[in-house]
Amino acid sequence: MKYSDIDLSHKTILITGGAGFIGSNLALHIQDSYPEARIVVFDAFVLGHFKNLRGYKGEIISGDIANPLDLERLNDYRFDYIFHEAAVSDTTITDQKYVVQVNVNAFYDILKIAKKHGAKTIYASSAGAYGNSEPPNIVGEGENPENAYGFSKLAMDRAAMRFAKENGVTIVGLRYFNVYGPRETYKGKTASMILQLGLQILSGKRPRLFKWGEQKRDFVYIEDVIQANIKALSATKSDVYNIGGGTAREFNEIFGNLTKTLEKDIEVEYIDNPWGFYQNHTKADISAAKADLGYAPRFDAEKGIGSYAPYIVRIYESEIK
Ligand SMILES: NC(=O)c1ccc[n+]([C@@H]2O[C@H](COP(=O)([O-])OP(=O)(O)OC[C@H]3O[C@@H](n4cnc5c(N)ncnc54)[C@H](O)[C@@H]3O)[C@@H](O)[C@H]2O)c1
Repeated sequence: MKYSDIDLSHKTILITGGAGFIGSNLALHIQDSYPEARIVVFDAFVLGHFKNLRGYKGEIISGDIANPLDLERLNDYRFDYIFHEAAVSDTTITDQKYVVQVNVNAFYDILKIAKKHGAKTIYASSAGAYGNSEPPNIVGEGENPENAYGFSKLAMDRAAMRFAKENGVTIVGLRYFNVYGPRETYKGKTASMILQLGLQILSGKRPRLFKWGEQKRDFVYIEDVIQANIKALSATKSDVYNIGGGTAREFNEIFGNLTKTLEKDIEVEYIDNPWGFYQNHTKADISAAKADLGYAPRFDAEKGIGSYAPYIVRIYESEIK
C-alpha cells in the first residue's frame, strides 16, 4: 500500500537502524512501493538482525552511528532523505553515558550529515519523553522523562528543533508510542508485550502481567508507524509529532484479545513490577500529526493483533517450539 503520492524515484534514502524492527519494515516498504528508490541501510546489527532484511535488495553498511569513522562511509552518497531509527532502544539500560552517547551525541553527527546533503530528515523519538505525566500526552507539555532513554529522546527533540531553526533544514521527529508488529522478534526481551504475551500463550506457559494488569498504553501497529514516516516526507516544516493509535488500552484487555485471537484458554499470572520506573498510562494526542502530516491510523488493537497473529504463530513454530 502506498501512503503518499511522493515521488521517490531515483531518490537516495538513508535508513539508520535499518536492520531493526521499524527500520527494516521501512526499508522493505519503500523497496516495494517505490522500486526506483535507492536505499542505504546503516546498522551496527546490535538488536537488528539480517533475518529482518531477507528480501531487501538495497545497499547495506555495517557501522556504528557513534563512530565518526564509520559515518565517513556515508560520504560516498548524496542523500535526499534520511530516516534515523538507530538508537539504544532498550528503555531499561541504566548506563546514562552510553545511552546519551549513542542516542544524542551521534544524532548531532546525523544532523550535520543531513545539512551537508540537504536531506529532509525524519527521526525516531519516543513517548518515553513524557515519563509518567498525566495523559493525554501532548508535545511540549508534561515532558518529564523518568529514565535515561526517555531523557535522550527528549534531548534529541530539542537538538533537532534548534538545529532545524539555525540551519534551515527540515527535520521531523516522530514520538512513537508502543509499536508492535512483524520483525520485532530479534529485540528479545525489549520486544512489545503483545509479541511476548502471544509467544507465552502459544507455549502454554501462564503469561505474566504486572499486578493487576490495569496499566494502559497507547499501542500502535507497525503499518501505522510506516504510514507516519512516509507522510512525514512531505512535511513542510520542522516539528515533533506523537505517533500512536490515539487510544489507551488496558493490559488485561490486550491479553483477552490475544487469547481470543490465538484461540487459547489460559489464565494470566500477576507478578510484582520490578521496575522502579514504569509508564502506567500513555495516550497520544495525535491531532497535530493528523492536521500537519495527514496521519490517519488504520489499526486499532483488535485489527492490529488480528493482522499480527499469524506472524506470531509462525515465529513460535519456527524459532521457539
Ligand atoms: N519499538 C517501539 O515501540 C519504539 C517506541 C518509541 C521509539 N522507538 C524508537 O524507534 C527506533 C527504532 O526502534 P526499534 O523498535 O526498531 O528498535 P530496534 O532495536 O529493533 O532498532 C534499532 C536498530 O538500531 C541499531 N543500532 C543500535 N545501536 C546502533 C549504533 N550505535 N549504530 C548503528 N546502529 C545501531 C540496532 O542494531 C537496531 O537494528 C529507535 O530509535 C527507538 O528508540 C521505538
